[in-house]
Amino acid sequence: QRVLVLHGPNLNLLGAREPSIYGEFTQQQLIDQVRTAAEPLGIEVELIQSNHEGALLDALHAAPERFDGVVFNPSALTHTSIALRDAVAAIPIPVVEVHLSNVHRREPYRAVSFVAERATATISGAGPDGYAAALVVLARRFAGTAR
Ligand code: DQA
Repeated sequence: QRVLVLHGPNLNLLGAREPSIYGEFTQQQLIDQVRTAAEPLGIEVELIQSNHEGALLDALHAAPERFDGVVFNPSALTHTSIALRDAVAAIPIPVVEVHLSNVHRREPYRAVSFVAERATATISGAGPDGYAAALVVLARRFAGTAR
């Protein structure tokens, strides 16, 4: 199976960006770790990152042509974008929302997620392990063994 890891604004700056909140690993190191977690699940992973909402919409629209599921960290657009929420609702493949930080322990505006309204699941605050957990959720759905 193939899974798209879709990253929104500022996640290209991982490692340099607020390391006390998001960690000291770069986006490349994160995706390498996600690939390692994906391998035993029989999942191939591809990363797309964009700082542009429209590019994220295009990536979601195109995802079902090439992917069986999406792990989506919409970053700050989580809290503002009805368009991304609608795109998640519009596509027929599962989308698991992931946040590195625990958005419920931060500023109140981060506790609101439009994307969560249509995501298969949301994992927040587990750091990079959240991505590995999202892959397990997707793998069990693909296999029809979701609990
Ligand atoms: C984030 C949380 C968002 O609130 C924030 O805007 C981000 C990253 C996370 O992964 O913890 O950019 O999605």
